[in-house]
Amino acid sequence: MKKDILSLLDLEVGDFTYLFHRAIELKKRFKQGIVDRPLIGKSIGLIFDKKSTRTRVSFETAMIQLGGTPIYIRSTDTQISRNEPVEDTARVLSRYIDALVMRTFDHKLVQQFAKASTIPVINALTDYSHPCQILSDIMTIIEFKGSYEGKKVVWIGDGNNVANSWVNAASVIDLNLVIATPEGYGISDYVKESSAARRDLDSKKHKFSNNIIFTNDPIEAVKDADVVYTDVWLSMGQEDDFEKRKKAFRDFQVNRELLSNAKPDVMVMHCLPAHRGEEISEDVLEAPGAVFWDQAENKCHMHKAILETLILKTGTAKVG
Ligand code: CP
Ligand code: NVA
Repeated sequence: MKKDILSLLDLEVGDFTYLFHRAIELKKRFKQGIVDRPLIGKSIGLIFDKKSTRTRVSFETAMIQLGGTPIYIRSTDTQISRNEPVEDTARVLSRYIDALVMRTFDHKLVQQFAKASTIPVINALTDYSHPCQILSDIMTIIEFKGSYEGKKVVWIGDGNNVANSWVNAASVIDLNLVIATPEGYGISDYVKESSAARRDLDSKKHKFSNNIIFTNDPIEAVKDADVVYTDVWLSMGQEDDFEKRKKAFRDFQVNRELLSNAKPDVMVMHCLPAHRGEEISEDVLEAPGAVFWDQAENKCHMHKAILETLILKTGTAKVG
């Protein structure tokens, strides 16, 4: 049966563990010059209704490195733009390609594609979530901190799609998460409730319960943090008054002063693109030893693990 990755709530603990392990292994093999081509003869389609540098290029590169072929599908050049139903498009694409990677606005659209497709559908960011980003970010935490377990991860900024995926992740795996947002810009009730429901469902399997804290106090939040993570104050597709946002987010810039409250070896992360002087200061972004560029690189290694697993191993792995 085919598997999708639309939200991290779709995954089991074992799926996370397998993908981290496999992505790290594939990275190691790639660095050693070992050529892995398990996807020769396979292809993926990429539909991106929003801009992308990292996600699109790393998925395309991942597919090429695994021996397969990525096909970029511009919605405006297809019959999708002339209102061919999503269901028909999904059924037809399923006859040609082996997986579909999709970035769009409305999360319902990826759900519709997934429902009507017989191939795996991978969410490459929607207004609701960015699951593959958080998979590769946790891989980066494992790489630099040895493990994500027992580490305090603090989100500073907007309660947006990337933050939602952190909340989703922490409701499945053993992750201590603090989400600090300005009042009025927090995580939606829907995300909190669906994540809490998932946690309750699994509570017998986990030793943790209150591992996600929501706050409006960035200084308190970063105390003893192992990882501080931030993202833009205005995401693609959001149409708020940015000047109003800037005022609301004034105390939520990740800068040296804020970081002085965290552990001395705190690791700062950003999914990028970054806006220097807004959510992150120039000196923090350019600090020697900063991991942002390794973090971005790891997207490619994680995408290889995801593509390989969903295309070849969906019969055994439980992903999605
Ligand atoms: N982090 C991330 O998803 O970047 P892109 O928007 O460039 O894909
Ligand atoms: N929250 C950002 C993430 C970009 C990768 C956005 O949706 O624009």
